[in-house]
Amino acid sequence: MYKAPRGTQDILPQEQPYWFYVKNTAIRLLHLYGYQPIDLPIFEDTSLFVRSVGETTDIVEKEMYTFLDKGGDSLTLRPEFTAGVVRAYIEHGMHLWPQPVRLYSIGPAFRYERPQAGRFRQFHQINVEALGEQDPALDFEVMTLAWHLYEELGFKGLSFQVNSTGCPKCRPAYVAILKDYYQGKVSLICEDCRRRLERNPLRLLDCKNEQCQPVIAQAPKIIDFLCEECASHFRTLLDYLDQEGHPYTLNHRLVRGLDYYTKTVFEVWAEGIGAQNAVCGGGRYDGLAQELGGPPTPGVGFAAGIERIVMIMKHQGIEVPPLEGPKVFVAFTGEALKKEAVKLTSRLRRSGIGATHALGDRSLKAQLKRADKAGVLYTVIVGEEEFAQGKVALRSMKDGTQVEVQIDDLERWLREAILKLSSSAP
Ligand code: HAM
Repeated sequence: MYKAPRGTQDILPQEQPYWFYVKNTAIRLLHLYGYQPIDLPIFEDTSLFVRSVGETTDIVEKEMYTFLDKGGDSLTLRPEFTAGVVRAYIEHGMHLWPQPVRLYSIGPAFRYERPQAGRFRQFHQINVEALGEQDPALDFEVMTLAWHLYEELGFKGLSFQVNSTGCPKCRPAYVAILKDYYQGKVSLICEDCRRRLERNPLRLLDCKNEQCQPVIAQAPKIIDFLCEECASHFRTLLDYLDQEGHPYTLNHRLVRGLDYYTKTVFEVWAEGIGAQNAVCGGGRYDGLAQELGGPPTPGVGFAAGIERIVMIMKHQGIEVPPLEGPKVFVAFTGEALKKEAVKLTSRLRRSGIGATHALGDRSLKAQLKRADKAGVLYTVIVGEEEFAQGKVALRSMKDGTQVEVQIDDLERWLREAILKLSSSAP
């Protein structure tokens, strides 16, 4: 028997109320903040990700779904959105649009990771980017937008992790100091960190291995080595956060797993998903557009993983409204009236009243059972005697009471009754 591929999951109808709620809440907020939707291809040229995300990152080294298409081109399923957004910004000359260009996308991304709770090989992101402006007030906007989303979804126990990773002017000097510090401690660190020391020293700070923790704790901090521009950018950003009384934790170890970041990096952490505690991550990437051959374009953004959001909502007992279904079921007595029931159902749907009708040739009792299971508010019963007089019976599924209504008057009657019931609902 076939199963969904490892690390992927089917999002079944009973899960969908969470997904709709999360996406709808995000879209409402994003529009409120002035972000516009953009949809991009799910695959791009492999080299776009290699150049953006970075050759020595875990994503590029181990996690990309890369394939040759039948024309011999190397393509990769997107492991993240930022590279594609910046590619589209350059391709469509968005530097000529009023800046900053605020864009968002919602959709799947793919990473060949070891699956565990909150970590999938196909997962979904709400991705947000603001391009073409270097003002730290924009970092603040993007970061508070992320935070606002989790507040709006009803999350508790969040923490906001903030750091600066400098820029190509000041970072190399810091990396050299960090390497120096580690050189004397090679015997104390794990196998992976020895490799990181050569390949991607900043990631040393991100190691989760127990034996490396004392070494990380004493490591030099990047914010002590920022150039004046990066330091002042970071100070201004923190001022904005302080002014709002916004809680945050300065996390000197926060370096993120993608190479394009400059200056600000941040993550939102939440309890309830084990080791995968980052529900969202992002930062500034002022050199990326140029790296991809475009005009110098600063940018800042974040992505939030929907699977992790839904997991935490369940863990924290956050309830979501059910999806709207049909409110009316049309039943009939006898084969002759089935045609009328089908016709009446179409009529109701066209007038904007959600309805389904009975199928097959079940008894009225069996049809009413179906109606009950379907969770409708009313069942319309097309019965011989009433129908001959241009009427149908209307049964309230809430209290079992029944009235007769003129067929011509059915839509008006139902609309009013449904409205009354939904406004009195708790
Ligand atoms: P990221 O930190 O790699 O950043 O991913 C962002 C979020 O996506 C994570 O915090 C997590 O919620 C979710 N996520 C990542 N990988 C997985 C996975 N395997 N399974 C489930 N959820 C996952 C980026 O992707 C950047 N492009 C964010 C960004 C946008 N930076 C600037 N603009």
